[in-house]
Amino acid sequence: MGNQPKTTSDSSSPDSSAPQDSLGPQDSLGPQDSLGPQARDAGATWLRPPTLLNRPKRIAILGATGSIGQSTLKVIRHSNATSTRSDGKGGRFQVLGLSGHSQIAQLAADATEFAAKRVVCSDPGGASAWKQQGAMPGSEFQVGPDALSDLASDPRVDIVVAAIVGSAGLPSTLAALTAGKVVALANKETMVVAGHLATALAIQYDARLLPVDSEHNAIFQAMQSGKSSQIRRIVLTASGGPFREKSSPDLESVTPAQALAHPTWKMGAKISIDSATMMNKALEVIEARWLFDLPAEKIEVVVHPQSIVHSFVEFEDGSVIAQLSPPDMQLPIQFALDYPERFTGPARRMDFSTAFGLNFQPPDMDRFPALLLGLEVARKGGTCGAVLNAANEVVVDAFLKGQIRFPQIATTCRQILEHHSFDAQPSLEQLLMIDRWARQETRKCIGI
Ligand SMILES: NC(=O)c1ccc[n+]([C@@H]2O[C@H](COP(=O)([O-])OP(=O)(O)OC[C@H]3O[C@@H](n4cnc5c(N)ncnc54)[C@H](OP(=O)(O)O)[C@@H]3O)[C@@H](O)[C@H]2O)c1
Repeated sequence: MGNQPKTTSDSSSPDSSAPQDSLGPQDSLGPQDSLGPQARDAGATWLRPPTLLNRPKRIAILGATGSIGQSTLKVIRHSNATSTRSDGKGGRFQVLGLSGHSQIAQLAADATEFAAKRVVCSDPGGASAWKQQGAMPGSEFQVGPDALSDLASDPRVDIVVAAIVGSAGLPSTLAALTAGKVVALANKETMVVAGHLATALAIQYDARLLPVDSEHNAIFQAMQSGKSSQIRRIVLTASGGPFREKSSPDLESVTPAQALAHPTWKMGAKISIDSATMMNKALEVIEARWLFDLPAEKIEVVVHPQSIVHSFVEFEDGSVIAQLSPPDMQLPIQFALDYPERFTGPARRMDFSTAFGLNFQPPDMDRFPALLLGLEVARKGGTCGAVLNAANEVVVDAFLKGQIRFPQIATTCRQILEHHSFDAQPSLEQLLMIDRWARQETRKCIGI
């Protein structure tokens, strides 16, 4: 976090303190001037296309052992096996570093396959499990949460994939922004907890924040059809989760196993429960508010059970632009890794040779009150996002352990939010303090 702020004029200059194989003048093809006006009008400065490089992009994947991390590795594996850069000189990506938390065998297998130079186990107790995997020649291994930020700011890294689940991903994402990296952002909790700080750091250090969440990725793509000042509203699509058609009394008795069985997406446990409560959409509304620098009043949600249309942007003239593809996270990940270029990747494609329908319906805020919370928090800002996120992480964990019933997830979050002492412009220290307070209060509230 000790990086010096970049000025506009030196934003593409190499860092003189960087090791020899870091980005040097010979690596950069300069800014994206050939892209035309659309690609330059993505609104906020952190959404501008990154500098083009004439060598493979060096990637650090934080949370490599999870669902997004593994999909990222599939994209890289496929790309390096099948495609070359547009200049025809070798693969697009090089895995520089990987992190995992509890799945050490998976981490070791991936580090070996991709010849990662740095490996981090964020669990401080992971060293002995790592030793059992045998020494990985050529890899530097570190343990503990601080090593995540160290990897995120390694001068050799071009792109940090922020794929840790929960607010555990916040410090390393902020470290990547402070080091001026391109951040492919899956960890929505960073924006929910500290969106105003993350975007301020991105401006200060000339970093990029490119959305991996499929809805935000779709909005980002659709936004390039017009000017950001012409956007009337954005509409996030929601699958409605596994309980889309359940009545309120039926929701009382749903089990963790039922909640984990998402109808269209295969994801980690926490986001699967968030999808079942629609808290995921609530968090995404807050994420969109900060990522696209839009007032909450311009953000809406529509239920779309097929998860084919990943979101809409409506412009002032009434034109609605959407991005469509089968539900497969490999596509938005690939987009974020290679933006503003595109290549033939491994993601599934649309098949128009058989008939299919697309449905849309307004969300039911009575059955899914978490969504209403998200809209309120996006409007109010300040400390609300940190409190909502912390309370939600605790109740989701408690629900997965069978300690509370499904409807208690949203009611408890509301209770904690309503009892916190609000601050409109919190510092990082205040946010971390209120995160701890909210976790404690939530545990007290549900009696665990
Ligand atoms: N999955 C999706 O389709 C999807 C879509 C959009 C956005 N997202 C977002 O992407 C993020 C990751 O989701 P996911 O579904 O990939 O989650 P996941 O499958 O549960 O993976 C989470 C990753 O974080 C690591 N991790 C867990 N606890 C940690 C801690 N305390 N400190 C550091 N690392 C920790 C895990 O390591 P171990 O596995 O080794 O324990 C794993 O690598 C979330 O913010 C989610 O909202 C996910």
